[in-house]
Amino acid sequence: MPDHDNVVLVIFGASGDLTQRKLIPSLYSLYHKHRLTKHVHMVGVSRTQFSHDEFRDRMKMGVEEHASQPFDANTWADFSQRIWYHPGDATQADAYAGLDEFLTNLPDAPKNRFYYLSTAPRFFPVIATNLGAAGMHVSEEGWRRLVVEKPFGSDLSSAHALNDALHEVFQEEQIYRIDHYLGKETAQNILFMRFANTIFEPLWNRNYIDNVQITVAESEDVARRASFYETAGVMRDMFQNHLLQLLALIAMEPPASFDSTAIRNERVKVLSAVRPIRPDEVAQHTVRAQYRSYRDAEDVPRNSETATYAALRFYIDNWRWQGVPFYLRSGKALNTKTTEIAIHFKEPPHLMFPMAEGSHIPPNRLSLCIQPDEGMHLGFQAKVPDTLVDMVPVDMAFHYSDSFNGTNIPEAYERLLIDAIIGDGSLFLRSDGIELAWKLIDPILEGWASDSAPPLAFYESGTWGPSEADRFLGEDGRSWQLGCGGHS
Ligand code: BG6
Repeated sequence: MPDHDNVVLVIFGASGDLTQRKLIPSLYSLYHKHRLTKHVHMVGVSRTQFSHDEFRDRMKMGVEEHASQPFDANTWADFSQRIWYHPGDATQADAYAGLDEFLTNLPDAPKNRFYYLSTAPRFFPVIATNLGAAGMHVSEEGWRRLVVEKPFGSDLSSAHALNDALHEVFQEEQIYRIDHYLGKETAQNILFMRFANTIFEPLWNRNYIDNVQITVAESEDVARRASFYETAGVMRDMFQNHLLQLLALIAMEPPASFDSTAIRNERVKVLSAVRPIRPDEVAQHTVRAQYRSYRDAEDVPRNSETATYAALRFYIDNWRWQGVPFYLRSGKALNTKTTEIAIHFKEPPHLMFPMAEGSHIPPNRLSLCIQPDEGMHLGFQAKVPDTLVDMVPVDMAFHYSDSFNGTNIPEAYERLLIDAIIGDGSLFLRSDGIELAWKLIDPILEGWASDSAPPLAFYESGTWGPSEADRFLGEDGRSWQLGCGGHS
């Protein structure tokens, strides 16, 4: 039997939302597509008392609502027989002998295990320690892996301490840290677009690119998550992980192979070249804002300074990118949900066309549409027919929905779960990568908590954020632009 057959996934924190909305629906979809072995088992662990059937019923609702594949009663009947529930308090060391026995005695006696930490983050170290104390972190019979959900620490020192705690028990190669943005099909495609084609890479540098804009806009507000969000804010919740990983994919050097170490080395290398924004520079390089009704939410202090929106400017100190600004912005309660990376090329060095004094033409823009309308758009100038010299920007588009008609774009977790099962760490974060990302975020948060902070701006829900963010780019003679169908 291959190494990745005969697996049990043990989900700690299984009564939580993630299991019902993402993990089990993704596993179901994989099963439906015959990507999972018949010998897979899934065991939910948490303190709530459920029978196996009660837990299966809850999971069924999640599958019906969230799976990328259609619900099929026969598939479900088969799949659900592999779902189990084992109540227990994972913070208690004495709970593990029983769990170990339960796992060992499952049908098919799974030899390989991965432990998925989907609990509140404060329990990550204690669960790892308890697994180690019970001897459940290694086995001669098969592999043991640990998947760790975000947030991974709340600053550099807590992330470092968490890495240390995990390394006490698990080897780095056994640890799979999740950033679900890396599992998105369109994020994976960035490497294919850049390195499976020859036309982009020669232009992909400071000679041709004027600036890069990464927008992760969300229309939902923080709603029920206010108490978590209040301690995180947009910097920890979105920038430290998702936006920086998108930046890394756009800016990294070509890896020599598709090997996970080669890919992760390059992602880490480019993050190490990002120039940190010092605490005394935050007013110059960042904007922070809050949507107006945020303070009305339950669990939010009336004088909360938590940013629900931020925009910032990073530079990358290497030969490829010296002097090219990378503008990153993200916020809650914005006009629309969209994630887009816009590459703005330089203006032509000379315009030979007769044009009115002072007029100029918009430069080329390549927009990578990460979600929701997945694809790419290239904006360029075209002559208007039947005129002498009139030009208009036109759009060349690639949509996944047209080119891959009939192929559902899978949920990011499908890819991540199957990769963890087959042992491919490319789309997961390494300890050094996580710590580098915090090294970029910590000084910004420190600056925001100091007298150097830019004033907290406010914006109305349903807009594109504060006018300060427009002024911020305006000062550089630029404006936010989206090419995937949204509006800036
Ligand atoms: C999560 C954040 O990591 O990503 C959420 O904690 C955010 O606040 C979510 O809403 C966005 O993910 P996606 O896949 O919907 O863009």
